[in-house]
Amino acid sequence: MSSVAGSAVAERTDGGKPGGEKLGGDSADSAFLVSRYGGRAPRYTSYPTAVQFSADVGAADYAAWLAALRPQDGPASLYLHIPFCDRMCWYCGCHTAVVNRRKPIEDYVGNLLREIDIVAAALPHRLSASAVHFGGGTPNMLAPSEFAAILDRLRARFDFTADAEIAVELDPRLLTPEWVKTAAAAGMNRASLGAQDFQPDVQQAINRIQPYELVRAAAAELRQAGVVSLNLDLMYGLPRQTLVSLESTIDQAISLNPERLSLFGYAHVPWMKAHQKLIREDELPEAILRYEMQRRAAEILGARGWTRLGLDHFANPADSLARAAADGRMRRNFQGYTTDNATTLIGFGASAIGALPQGYVQNASAVPKWREKIVAGELPVVRGVSATADDKFRAEIIERLMCDLGVDLADVCARHGRALDELAYAWPRLDEMAADGLLVRRGPVIEAKPIGRDFIRSIATVFDAYLDAEAARHSLGV
Ligand SMILES: C[S@@+](CC[C@H](N)C(=O)[O-])C[C@H]1O[C@@H](n2cnc3c(N)ncnc32)[C@H](O)[C@@H]1O
Ligand code: SF4
Repeated sequence: MSSVAGSAVAERTDGGKPGGEKLGGDSADSAFLVSRYGGRAPRYTSYPTAVQFSADVGAADYAAWLAALRPQDGPASLYLHIPFCDRMCWYCGCHTAVVNRRKPIEDYVGNLLREIDIVAAALPHRLSASAVHFGGGTPNMLAPSEFAAILDRLRARFDFTADAEIAVELDPRLLTPEWVKTAAAAGMNRASLGAQDFQPDVQQAINRIQPYELVRAAAAELRQAGVVSLNLDLMYGLPRQTLVSLESTIDQAISLNPERLSLFGYAHVPWMKAHQKLIREDELPEAILRYEMQRRAAEILGARGWTRLGLDHFANPADSLARAAADGRMRRNFQGYTTDNATTLIGFGASAIGALPQGYVQNASAVPKWREKIVAGELPVVRGVSATADDKFRAEIIERLMCDLGVDLADVCARHGRALDELAYAWPRLDEMAADGLLVRRGPVIEAKPIGRDFIRSIATVFDAYLDAEAARHSLGV
């Protein structure tokens, strides 16, 4: 779901009906922190963020960057975007469209196969691949044979490592036993199911009717087929959600024994996503209740033995992501938090984003434009950004903050050949945050306090050299 995770959509905090619930914790403190640090901030799935992408970087740069890859750069991670859905969830912020016919999908798959060939031809050597991620939209809009054909083509062009992770985002409403069986036989070993919320009245308000039993059957099917890691996507801040209903949803999600849970705050941007106008704003929880939902969810999951990771993920402590987080090895990329430490991410499909040592690239977002480039035999990249040495330095600080909730700035400076004094501008802002209880600073070492985790995006903005000019385009910090 690179489009939601990686975009600069703004989450709602204003307006909406008061939830009518007594808030947990010290709501006066919460209100102060939300008003002070809940402002707009990037989600930092990259730095520079997608807002900095421009047409200054295009297909020629991408070709040069691919050609410069060296065997010692290690295996790549591959992302494939499938921008189709069966029907529109009214909250959806992803890059997708409803299609009711097979033809556009068949056409898209044909071009995706061509794109894999075009990229492979631009590589200086056969690249190995340690991770493949199918996102969307809804990858299980593909016919099972189409999904298998894409993996076949990838295997023909890349050397998959023996332990390659092949992950797929799935809509449980469309999942058939045949789909699961074929995909697992083709190599799918990880899956993420869109669960969102299990309460019938919430499901009605978001146009996504999906009974618990249906999700349970999908999870069981995936397990039976040998999927070793299951994630469920949940959301808070949805219409008609309450603290009590969210708790029930979380308990129902846990009962399905997933390894991981994502808990995304609903980004309400009806000016960018017109179908979100179908969501009744008077049914949305207001800012402070949203914040309490996020905190209550974390408390409940903590009490059930789950580990909270970064901004919005939770994992069973035995899960590889929880172990990576404990060892400071967790990474953040366009798919969110990951154990994947590849330095090369190759994106395929309309709107897909790639990351190379030199910077970021993005394919044309509109399918016709993307198709036109592929049919002409060209790389479909139309925008991106080159990363300067300063960008890479700041990117590391921001990534460590987003993953570890703390950073030793002296260490990062030493790795990048920078003087710590260059960050002296940050001390007053950090000390103000420390005085507000968000973090502790010991010289160059910053550690977020437990409550600071909820505002980690705002803490990270201190190191963002681009933010001021672009602030208005990013989402809120909680
Ligand atoms: C590509 S979808 C997952 C796969 C499949 N399309 C589905 O919905 O079941 C990615 C996830 O993004 C999240 N999402 C979508 N729109 C969102 C929004 N406006 N704000 C926050 N999260 C959103 C949902 O949790 C959704 O499951
Ligand atoms: S199924 Fe997933 S991608 Fe499609 S509209 Fe719903 S949330 Fe968005």
